[in-house]
Amino acid sequence: MNLKDAILNRRSIKIFGESTIDVDVVKQAINSAIYAPNHGVREPWHIKYVQKEQLEQYAEQVGDIAFKGDEQKKRNHASKLSMLGGILVVSVDRDVRQKQHHENLMAGGAFMQNLMLLLHAEAVGTCWHTPGYMFTPEYYQMMNISSDQEIIAELYLMDVNDDNSSERSNGYDDIVETW
Ligand SMILES: Cc1cc2nc3c(=O)[nH]c(=O)nc-3n(C[C@H](O)[C@H](O)[C@H](O)COP(=O)(O)O)c2cc1C
Repeated sequence: MNLKDAILNRRSIKIFGESTIDVDVVKQAINSAIYAPNHGVREPWHIKYVQKEQLEQYAEQVGDIAFKGDEQKKRNHASKLSMLGGILVVSVDRDVRQKQHHENLMAGGAFMQNLMLLLHAEAVGTCWHTPGYMFTPEYYQMMNISSDQEIIAELYLMDVNDDNSSERSNGYDDIVETW
């Protein structure tokens, strides 16, 4: 698959289907995604891999944080998560210096795009999620991620399906002006 095809055809998968993902494919994609640009080669990224067999426990704990006793919502959410092939929770190092922190976040975004494209090329579908609970101290604690890091994504891994709607309306003529 060439790069342009990967960029044009990768779409966030929002329809859930029962998925099984090859862990080695994920591992290889991560080992290539780390070649994303990052200032100072600080390599600010970290990943917690929630594997398929851990999804039930993950959903149980996330449900307690996200839905606070609303059992119906918790069950609905858990039944979706149980279909995934796994989840990658991606964080980057925080830096007290504004410039460096900004650079780390941007590098994290570049890493994410690399990762999603590489997975797409191996027929692994993804959707980058930023749910409200991702920003709570309870979730950091549950994931065992210290406040020295900032979580940037809960990346759902699943089989690619036909849910590839997402046209773009802007192009060169809309976004580029001669200075
Ligand atoms: C930083 C970021 C956060 C996102 N958060 C969510 C989210 O919380 N829930 C969701 O369904 N999609 C989320 N998405 C996916 C976007 O909604 C999706 O990329 C958009 O619909 C464009 O579709 P495409 O990825 O298929 O091009 C997020 C994407 C990015 C880049």
